[in-house]
Amino acid sequence: MKKDVKYLLDKKKNKQKIIALTCYDYTTALLQDKAGIDVIFVGDSVGTNVLGYEDETQVTMDDIVHHLKAVRRGIKESFILADLPHMSYQTPEQALENSKRLISHGADCVKLEGLEEDVVKCLRKHNIPVCGHLGLQPQTHEKKAVQGKTFNQAKEIITAAKRLETLGIFMLVLELIPEELGQVITQKLNIPTIGIGSGRYTDGQVLIVNDILGITPRKFRLAKKYQDFQTLTIDAIEKYSRDIEENIFPGEENLRHMPKAELDELNQ
Ligand code: KIV
Ligand code: NA
Repeated sequence: MKKDVKYLLDKKKNKQKIIALTCYDYTTALLQDKAGIDVIFVGDSVGTNVLGYEDETQVTMDDIVHHLKAVRRGIKESFILADLPHMSYQTPEQALENSKRLISHGADCVKLEGLEEDVVKCLRKHNIPVCGHLGLQPQTHEKKAVQGKTFNQAKEIITAAKRLETLGIFMLVLELIPEELGQVITQKLNIPTIGIGSGRYTDGQVLIVNDILGITPRKFRLAKKYQDFQTLTIDAIEKYSRDIEENIFPGEENLRHMPKAELDELNQ
């Protein structure tokens, strides 16, 4: 059954963890759906992880739509979240138009960073499910530093979280904040929180799929590597190269023969 907003709200009510992971392509989507991921994030992290961009600000609506369409084709059950990229929600009208575009290509909700009151109001008025994103906001924060470390900063994030909930978001991503602040916000809200680098007490966790699979060269302390795709990939490619050089590939099982009579005729 396709997961929906109610499924995610019920998970929080029943104190079950929400499992989220980013995804950028069709084949990975098939696997993640099969593995039972609750929420698939087609995030603007696609820029640095897949497209070779410098940072998130280079990601466009067209980029998100392209990857969203691929992911959508692979999903039967997971809930699909799509990021509104940098500069795509500068006015409520622009945000609405871009959100409708993401929804029309298979997103079950859109996510936007910060306390954009007028934008959130407008999207909710048009019944678009909205996920918030507080703490580190990669689209506008130049330094990837922990947020909410001082008392006043922490209070500001709590206030923004409560305001977003009042405005009608159904879920909130908390990125790179102290564990204690993640816990306080999670307790104060009725909607689920999804943490990334924000400790153990958020209602769910999200990570970048490239990080958990060990595809990405960089090491992110707050992520965990569950597989070493870099090493596996390089080993496989080296073995492939050796097999070609040593005439091991293609082998008998990888090729086709002609009937002898036809070959004799061709050789005449
Ligand atoms: O872009 C992204 O993938 C995200 C999540 C990791 C929170 O915003
Ligand atoms: Na993002």
